[in-house]
Amino acid sequence: MPAETIMRGGEQRGAGFGLRPLAPEIGVEITGLDLSLPLAPEAFAGVEAAFVKNSVLLARGQTLSEDAQVAFAIQFGALAQNVNRHGGESQRHPATMLISNVREDGKLIGALPDGEMLFHSDQCYVETPCMAAMLYGMEIPSHGGETIFANMHRAFETLPEDLRRAVEGRKAMNIFEYADAGGYGAAAIDLFKELPAGSRHYAHPIVRTHPVTGRKALYVNRGMTLFIEGMERTASDALLRRIFDHQEQPAFQYSHVWRRGDLIMWDNRCTLHARADFPGDQRRMLRRVTLLGQKPV
Ligand code: SIN
Repeated sequence: MPAETIMRGGEQRGAGFGLRPLAPEIGVEITGLDLSLPLAPEAFAGVEAAFVKNSVLLARGQTLSEDAQVAFAIQFGALAQNVNRHGGESQRHPATMLISNVREDGKLIGALPDGEMLFHSDQCYVETPCMAAMLYGMEIPSHGGETIFANMHRAFETLPEDLRRAVEGRKAMNIFEYADAGGYGAAAIDLFKELPAGSRHYAHPIVRTHPVTGRKALYVNRGMTLFIEGMERTASDALLRRIFDHQEQPAFQYSHVWRRGDLIMWDNRCTLHARADFPGDQRRMLRRVTLLGQKPV
């Protein structure tokens, strides 16, 4: 904790907090704040403004209990219930979830355990996806497992004119675990014609407007978007492939190399994220807290 961070009545005023860009198009690191302590209103306003402007916020070297992480999160708004809940400490708060490959007595203690994950947006398969989510690094493998964030405002703003015209006013269908190993394909279901009974899916606008800034963002992703409504399958597949390739350009990305004690928060309204592969024989554990969102428009 830097000496210049001023404490007042148990709150940090954050006089000394600094901002450092993470990548040219996305992300900022805040320095000089201990997120386990409450932020004074003016310090929080600065942090929130940096978050909205940069879409991804990183703070390193934090020591956060589950309660402290929840207390930090709740300053941004109401907590969302996780769609998928898992055991371990996450039993205490419906808004927290362990992301982990750790197995105890042969059973996974968390969610999203192993390997690479394609680009996706959290909860895009429900009517009201979360506004934001944050991960706190607890156990980190020696290499790999980077979380990669991509700026969907910039992806929209740089979309070739023909693509922009093609997606205007259209919706796309998103589904949970579409691209999971085997996925629904294993059940030999033609997802274009029939969505599996009991699957979580929802059609959202392909271009959404950020409720705070009014900026537009692309809102489809390779991991969970199935098809564009009202289009023939081949046309929909071809259009989506072009959009996915465009939105996943490295120029829009920040790849986060994890250290223990990192807290990273992303604006789920205007970013995608993916995960790089990591050694399956090394422990990885992150604690996630999710914030309630609004229906995308
Ligand atoms: C997630 O998609 O929420 C998990 C990302 C990660 O494990 O790095």
